[in-house]
Amino acid sequence: MNIRIRHARPRDARRLVELAREVGSEPEGWLATDARWQSSGAERAHLRAAVRSRHVAVLVAEGEHGIVGRLSIARRPHAPNSHVAEIGLMVALAERGQGIGTALLAAAEHWARGAGIVKVELHVLPHNAAAIALYERVGYEREGLRRRHFRRGDVYFDAILMAKQLDELARKSV
Ligand SMILES: CC(C)(COP(=O)(O)OP(=O)(O)OC[C@H]1O[C@@H](n2cnc3c(N)ncnc32)[C@H](O)[C@@H]1OP(=O)(O)O)[C@@H](O)C(=O)NCCC(=O)NCCS
Repeated sequence: MNIRIRHARPRDARRLVELAREVGSEPEGWLATDARWQSSGAERAHLRAAVRSRHVAVLVAEGEHGIVGRLSIARRPHAPNSHVAEIGLMVALAERGQGIGTALLAAAEHWARGAGIVKVELHVLPHNAAAIALYERVGYEREGLRRRHFRRGDVYFDAILMAKQLDELARKSV
């Protein structure tokens, strides 16, 4: 399948909410959030803001039949770690294993470098072997275990914190 990576536009909101609901409904529970994703209206407002922002980007992978993947990246809001951005990633079930996740991560790194970000991080649930393998393959390292970091209803979840340094200088930091 031919895939194009591009920035999301406000009119993608409905499909992006649908994709998140599909992935969030998978019984394995890959996402920290469940199927109750934000409304299309809230998503549209978020995308409208992202288009103009140097701090947030939403990238989509688009195939012949529409959007099949989404990556969000957001810079940390406080000055001492505004060089860090957090990533969220999902690919439609039927389209996995074809390099779409890898392509979205590469595009996010490109955007992050352009925005002066030197470290990207993410949280992944410990049972998500596919995602962890992908992140390690493209250079993310485990930085720790966040205990009871997410909650769905009354249930708390641990999450693995992973990160990638985008420049050599950052690797040498004290
Ligand atoms: C994680 C996810 C985004 C990967 O997207 P993708 O398009 O399939 O990714 P790619 O095709 O680029 O890479 C797939 C990689 O996953 C890993 N992988 C896939 N299935 C695996 C399995 N059963 N066990 C271990 N690793 C596996 C491999 O590293 C594989 O790379 P390889 O084919 O080169 O060996 C996708 O599986 C997904 O959306 N999952 C549900 C939502 C999710 O977990 N999001 C991440 C939350 S942190």
